[in-house]
Amino acid sequence: MANTHVVILAAGKGTRMQSARPKVLHRVAGLPMADYALRATAPLDAASTTLVVGYGAEQVQAALSRWEVGFATQAPQLGTGHALMQAESALAGATGTLVLLAGDVPLLRTATLRALVATHRQAGAAATVLTATVPWPFGYGRIVRTQGRIARIVEERDATPDQRDIREINSGIYALDLAPLFDALRSIATENAQGEYYLTDLVSIYRRRKLVVETVTVERPEEIRGINSRTELAEVGAIVRQGKNEELMAAGVTIEDPATTYVDTDVTVGADTVLHPGVTLEGRTVVGSACEIHSGVRIVDSTIEDGVTINNHCVITDARVATGAKIGPFAHLRPEADIRRDAKIGNFVEVKKAVVGAGSKANHLAYLGDATVGEGVNVGAGTIICNYDGATKHHTVIEDGAFIGSDTQLIAPVTVGKGAYVASGSSITDDVPAGSLAVARGRQTVKEGWVARKRRA
Ligand code: UD1
Ligand code: CA
Repeated sequence: MANTHVVILAAGKGTRMQSARPKVLHRVAGLPMADYALRATAPLDAASTTLVVGYGAEQVQAALSRWEVGFATQAPQLGTGHALMQAESALAGATGTLVLLAGDVPLLRTATLRALVATHRQAGAAATVLTATVPWPFGYGRIVRTQGRIARIVEERDATPDQRDIREINSGIYALDLAPLFDALRSIATENAQGEYYLTDLVSIYRRRKLVVETVTVERPEEIRGINSRTELAEVGAIVRQGKNEELMAAGVTIEDPATTYVDTDVTVGADTVLHPGVTLEGRTVVGSACEIHSGVRIVDSTIEDGVTINNHCVITDARVATGAKIGPFAHLRPEADIRRDAKIGNFVEVKKAVVGAGSKANHLAYLGDATVGEGVNVGAGTIICNYDGATKHHTVIEDGAFIGSDTQLIAPVTVGKGAYVASGSSITDDVPAGSLAVARGRQTVKEGWVARKRRA
């Protein structure tokens, strides 16, 4: 929208969170709260976006560094009116409409902001307040109307008992004409219960100056719910997750029990994939179509292609699993595990920084670290790649079609050639040429009658 600027207030500590971390960095469905404010405003194509930061300013700036936004610092934090004043130099010379919101309202939609700005402009208003009518208004600023028009906003702590009964509340989200704004902000005083500069005083100031103040009421009050405590963090988080699950189901994903399925905002899942109860998909995870993800699986920042089965209780982080592969139960795919087409990684197998080639199998109790495993390889139960000598990590290569007998240790760096066999129980320290058999274990000796002799002695 032409001639639009955005300011997001995020300087407060969020005292009620009881946290060392700035409130806007607490995560909702995998993203810092402030990200939602930026995502809601980004499609407005504003000429500028400024975040007012204060408590934990450096942390907040670092966490949001991928966004093209400016920062203004507010120290100390003397209230919402004071916070907006800190954006004055960032907005020097700017004209048009300022969209002002807080960084703690993750459910806010872009469409609502567009409607707010549209009404604001049509009315030629100096300020337009986004309001909501709620059954439980406590804690919010109340909208006081005279002859139907907004006269002022009264904070909970400054309200008379009658005003406390008003159920129309201030969302803390506004469209503001930049022309009269900063001059008016300077006339805000601190005569209130909290001794703060209340941005909300702008309404009565404008009314006194005979400027137009409008309101827009949201249809679903849920949308403007702010997060002030851990309880609200959990409640809003649940709403965000439910929305995400509904979106996935509408796109053809089966979610057996949405209440126990935790999918972060940026995760994608293809059609006809089934998510069983208790699945957690985090971060930038991508799951293809027609996959089956069983209970207790946690996948973080990983790519799962199509038709993959992940059995119960696997943990998968920063890994890739190609089409048709089968994983688990109880497998651990760590960073840079790269499981190719139709490969099988079975129970109690851990893979780290290793390629497991197409159709290869490591079905039971193995550790594959710092390795390149070719295609059609069979890794027997209990195989351990000894990749670490106490100082450095070394690489192991197992070429196509090799067979690694059970309980083998491959002491890296070592290469097992194409089609070679390694006998069970071997400690392999030297390269095994293609097509050969390597046996590297103590020979068995049998002492006949030994038990009886021992008993007699
Ligand atoms: C504010 C409104 C209230 C509204 C409510 C909606 C005022 C005086 N009150 O109250 O009418 O119903 O939001 O959620 O505006 N902030 C700063 N610097 C400060 C103080 C606050 O940046 O000095 C930021 C906070 O980080 C937060 C936002 O402003 O993102 C709102 O502050 P908060 O203290 O939560 O205001 P409320 O008391 O909830
Ligand atoms: Ca608040």
